[in-house]
Amino acid sequence: MTAEYQVHGDVAVISMNNPPVNGLGFSTRVGLTDGLTKANADAAVKSIVITGAGKAFSGGADIKEFGSPKALAEPNLLSVILAVENSTKPVIAAMHTVAMGGGLELALGCHYRICAPGCSVALPEVKLGLIPGAGGTQRLPRVLGVETALNMIVSGEPVKSEMLAMLPGQKLFDKMAASAESLAAEALAFAQEMATKHADGSAFPLVRSMPCKHPLGDAYFQFARNMVGGMSKNFPAPLKCVDAVEAATKKKFDDGMAFERDIFVNLMWTSESRALRHIFAAERAASKIPDVPEDTAQRAIKSVAVIGAGTMGGGISMNFLNAGIPVKMLEMKQEALDRGIATIRKNYESQVKKGKLKQDKYDQRMALLTTTLDYADLKDADIVIEAVFEEMGVKEAVFKKLDEVMKPGAILASNTSTLDVNAIANFTKRPQDVVGTHFFSPANVMKLLEVVRGEKTAKDVLATVMAIGKKIKKTSVVSGVCDGFIGNRMIEQYSRQAGFLLEEGCTPAQVDRAVEKFGFAMGPFRMGDLAGNDIGWAIRKRRNIEKPGMKYSKTADLLCEMGRFGQKTGAGWYDYQVGKRDAIPSDVVNKMVEDHRAAQGIKARKISDEEIVQRLVYSLVNEAAHILEDGIASKASDIDMVYLTGYGFPIYRGGPMHYADQVGLFNVVQAMNRFAKNPLDDAAFWQPAPLLARLAAEGKTFN
Ligand code: NAI
Repeated sequence: MTAEYQVHGDVAVISMNNPPVNGLGFSTRVGLTDGLTKANADAAVKSIVITGAGKAFSGGADIKEFGSPKALAEPNLLSVILAVENSTKPVIAAMHTVAMGGGLELALGCHYRICAPGCSVALPEVKLGLIPGAGGTQRLPRVLGVETALNMIVSGEPVKSEMLAMLPGQKLFDKMAASAESLAAEALAFAQEMATKHADGSAFPLVRSMPCKHPLGDAYFQFARNMVGGMSKNFPAPLKCVDAVEAATKKKFDDGMAFERDIFVNLMWTSESRALRHIFAAERAASKIPDVPEDTAQRAIKSVAVIGAGTMGGGISMNFLNAGIPVKMLEMKQEALDRGIATIRKNYESQVKKGKLKQDKYDQRMALLTTTLDYADLKDADIVIEAVFEEMGVKEAVFKKLDEVMKPGAILASNTSTLDVNAIANFTKRPQDVVGTHFFSPANVMKLLEVVRGEKTAKDVLATVMAIGKKIKKTSVVSGVCDGFIGNRMIEQYSRQAGFLLEEGCTPAQVDRAVEKFGFAMGPFRMGDLAGNDIGWAIRKRRNIEKPGMKYSKTADLLCEMGRFGQKTGAGWYDYQVGKRDAIPSDVVNKMVEDHRAAQGIKARKISDEEIVQRLVYSLVNEAAHILEDGIASKASDIDMVYLTGYGFPIYRGGPMHYADQVGLFNVVQAMNRFAKNPLDDAAFWQPAPLLARLAAEGKTFN
């Protein structure tokens, strides 16, 4: 049982004890109802306190039970709350640290609530595409007022208890404890006080009986719907939060509860909620590496060195400065250092101007940044991250130098995006200390960090780098060594498909529109213009020497031969006006594509948006299945995280693998078989990866 029962004098204390946040799993719920039964049966007990042991009152549903029948088994949370309401002795919630979701709903069912300052209070269900399902939408407006409650329910964001306690007329807390430390004693005293107050047999207050109205009524909810609807495109849950809170103002309590329940159950089945719940679990799973135990000892990281103060070096440095970790940047020339520092300054200054960063914080961060031209100055750094030119010869020189100067045990990381991390490791006499840290551009903004595990990378190095990733607020995903690692290896296939689509009859704008309608932040051609088409061009040129015969449409090369590298040259797949980023369809490009088609003897055909999206997305899926099979990624959900956080895959579709699972792998394979018959496409590529073929045949899924 994960709730403890103790009697102190004439007060029974039921303490939820299900680390880390006292999730309301089955055994915690049984512990609560058993405790209530015991306390009600014991004549010596006059009042009851419900609290949480350790680091939370309760964080709500137990994520370990997510989606399992146990989550709904009786006593479910609604039954527990009913048992609390019906207790013949007053029940007091003693809240502290975290009271979220079901935890807050439980407290709202209690007759009284005492809370410590510093408690994070929230109904975060909307973040999983749901609404609160155990009375949260009906009770919170009754104690905090409709507007505050709706704001909290729609945003899902936590608010500190001391802020809520200041709201005029709030009835969420009957009493604030002086501190978290004094909460237990104050809760006992308050419980005794309430027992005395009700010794005359008077009824206990119930939130369900409190009135709930908004003075503007319909007008307010119309306004709320306009606001919320505009901000929650593609996600049904936020507007449903408005419906449920409105019901609290219009329906009898029990009818409102039934209304909330219906919405909750319906949302559970939506693809958006499934996607969000998948991402919630995937994000937590990403930090777990199958053969690296969670308690692996880590190396201490107190200082960082960065080699190269260019685009990536600067952004990477900012991550550490933001986290309060000192950074020393090394370059070959003072001018390069000056340029790098100026860019970092400009970045921070624009944040200060926008009010996103306080001046003193900016000063503190810049004070943590030092520079040098001399490798000897780096020797004491705990980790060094190399971000120099993408050329093996340059990397070799840098890593040989680092091997000479760095202290033993220092982690040597490379930000390379295409080079072989094993080869880089072998430039040193300590390959076990070498790892890839593949940041995405802009490195101070993008969430994704691919942690590239070389064949000799030590487990404690991996564990340490994953922990650093967390510290600098990245989503870190481990990738094995291969060309492009996880993300870029997949996007190469996607780009090839985009090229074939042009050849067969699409315009860049048509492809982008279809993919953006599907939900991608940006279609492949707009993305190419933003990132620079010359990058892929350089890689293809190198590839064609190394891997001759890789089939792709030459249109991207022809574009680069015209000097159209993208936004930076004012022209790419689209035209751009000076100083603007709007992509304007280009007659020049369309003509180039048509001429190329004619030269190949291809007659353009009309291609549906559906085909465009399927070919692009399934190309990701098939390559990802190979990546899983090759052991480059250890689980399908890691691949989803890469695409969601690094490549703008629509959140509400849950990532390419989750999306394929939802479509059904059988259907995905059927479509691939159709694509393989297209003589202008790459039939060999469309052979389903063996893993995909097997799962489809067995009716299974990736995740
Ligand atoms: P960049 O050209 O902006 O910066 C490279 C910097 O390294 C320059 O300031 C240069 O002076 C300096 N440098 C070159 N050789 C050096 C040496 N021997 N010692 C010290 N400094 C030296 O290049 P960028 O874009 O920052 O790329 C750096 C690395 O990051 C490359 O490996 C690249 O593949 C990788 N990368 C780049 C991404 C991007 O979007 N730009 C994304 C992810 C990885």
